[in-house]
Amino acid sequence: MTEKVKLKWNGKDIEAVKGSNLLQAALDNGQEVAHYCYHAGLSIAGVCRMCMVEQDGVPRPFPACNATCGEGMVVRNDTPKIKAAVENTLQFHLLNHPLDCPVCDQAGECGLQDYYMKHGQYDSQMIDKKVHKEKVQDIGKNVMLDAERCILCSRCTRFTEEVTKTFELGILNRGDHAEITVNEELKNDYAQNLVDICPVGALTSKDFRFKQRVWFLEEVYTTCIGCETGCSVKVSQNKNGAYRVKPVFDETVNGHWMCDDGRQIYKHVSSPTRLQVASENMNGLFVPADELNIKEAVKGKKAKFILSTSLTNQEYERFFHEVGSKAEVALYTLPKLGADFDGILKRGDKNANLRGAEHAFKKAGKDSTPAALDKLLNSIGSSDVVYVVVPEILYNEDHFNTLLTKIEKASMRIALTPGETLSSMKVFNYLLPVPSFLEKEGDIVNFSGDIRKLNAGLSYGETTKDISYYGNWVNV
Ligand code: SF4
Ligand code: SF4
Ligand code: FES
Repeated sequence: MTEKVKLKWNGKDIEAVKGSNLLQAALDNGQEVAHYCYHAGLSIAGVCRMCMVEQDGVPRPFPACNATCGEGMVVRNDTPKIKAAVENTLQFHLLNHPLDCPVCDQAGECGLQDYYMKHGQYDSQMIDKKVHKEKVQDIGKNVMLDAERCILCSRCTRFTEEVTKTFELGILNRGDHAEITVNEELKNDYAQNLVDICPVGALTSKDFRFKQRVWFLEEVYTTCIGCETGCSVKVSQNKNGAYRVKPVFDETVNGHWMCDDGRQIYKHVSSPTRLQVASENMNGLFVPADELNIKEAVKGKKAKFILSTSLTNQEYERFFHEVGSKAEVALYTLPKLGADFDGILKRGDKNANLRGAEHAFKKAGKDSTPAALDKLLNSIGSSDVVYVVVPEILYNEDHFNTLLTKIEKASMRIALTPGETLSSMKVFNYLLPVPSFLEKEGDIVNFSGDIRKLNAGLSYGETTKDISYYGNWVNV
C-alpha cells in the first residue's frame, strides 16, 4: 500500500505520498506555486528557480520541484523572503524577454504573462539594450520557434531526449546568449506536444497561430478517434468551428501526451467543404435534395449497409435495434498504417471503435469480418440500394475508393458522411450528413477494451441526423 505523509504547506495541512514530489503535492492540494521548468511528465531540471520554498529547520530556501515529501515537513512559499526571491527571479526571466504579448499566440495561457501581471512587473528593469534573438523560425512539424521569448526552462529539450528520444533540440551558448538550438528539423511524431509544454510563447503551433485568441474558445473534453489507442483530449472550439486538439492527462491511456496525427482529427468537422445538407448527384454536381424524393427513390429496393468503425456503441445499438438486424450489413475496416505500435502511443490500427463494432455485430447475429464484406459486395445487384457509412477519418483514401468501385452495380448508392465531400463520392446518387465525433455523445472501446467517452461540443453540421434515422427509410 502507498504510504501517505502529513505536512504543512503555508500553515495548511496537506497529505501526500511519501517520497513524492513536493511541488506536485502542493499543486495536487490546490496550492499555487509558480513554476516553469517542472513538468510531471519529464525529469526534474530545477533551472527556473520559481518554485522556491522555505522549510522549518532548513537554513536556505530551495526549489520545491527538487524536493520530496516527508512526514511532518513544514513548508511555506508565502513568506516575504520567498516572495522577494520569486519576484527577483521573474525580473531575471523578463530581462531580455520582448514582452510582445499583444502579438503573441500564447497570450491568455502564458505562465510568464500570468506572473508578471500578478507581480505588477509590466515594465522591464533593463537599462541596456535587450539581447535580440531570432524570431519566427520554422523548426518543422508545424512548430514555430521565437527564440527571444524562450526562458530556457529546458522542457522542450528534455521532451526530445526523454519521451521521443530524437534529440532534435538543445541549448547552446551561455549567459544571455544561451538559446535553443535546432540540431535538426523536428522529425518525431509527437512534436506538437512541445507547443503544449512550452510555458511561454517561444514554441507555437503553425496550425493554430493567429487563428483565434484563446479567451474566445471553449474546451470539450473527449476522446481522440485517430487510432485504437483512444487518447483523452480536449478540442478548443467556438461557434465558428474547432481550432485545435490538445492532450488531457490520463494515467491509464496516454499520460500527458498525444501524437501529431491526433491533432488533425478535428479538421473536417468545421471545414467549409463539409456536407451540410442531404444532397443529390446531378451530373457529378451535388445539389440540395428533398428527403421525400430520396425515400421515394429507395422504395422497393433491397437495402445493403456497409458500416464504418467510427460509430459509437450506442449508434451501432440503435442501428441494429431499428433496422440493421433485418438488413444485410457488413463492416468496412480501415487498413493498418505503419507499425502495430510505435512504443509511445500511436497504433497502426486506425479503427477507433473496432471492438465496439465487433461486439455490436456479434450481438445482432451479424458477421463483421472482411469475408462478410466481400460476400455483401459480391452479391450487389441492380435492384439494391447500398448505404455506405463513410469513416470519419480516411487515412488511406485509395483503399476506400477501391471499396466504392465495388458498389457500382447497385442502382442506388447512398453515402452517410460526417465529413467533407471527396471527389470519389461522385459514385453516390445521394449524400446524407451524419454527426461527427464532436457532435455526439457516446462510447467507443479502445485497443485494450477500455470504454472511452465521446462528448458533444457545439454543433456545426446543423442538419446532421443519426444514421438510424436514415435506416428507418428502408423497406426491410
Ligand atoms: S522553447 Fe519553451 S520549452 Fe523550450 S526551453 Fe524555451 S521556454 Fe522552455
Ligand atoms: S495515439 Fe492514436 S488516439 Fe492517441 S492521439 Fe494519436 S491518433 Fe489519437
Ligand atoms: S519549477 Fe522548480 S525550479 Fe523550475
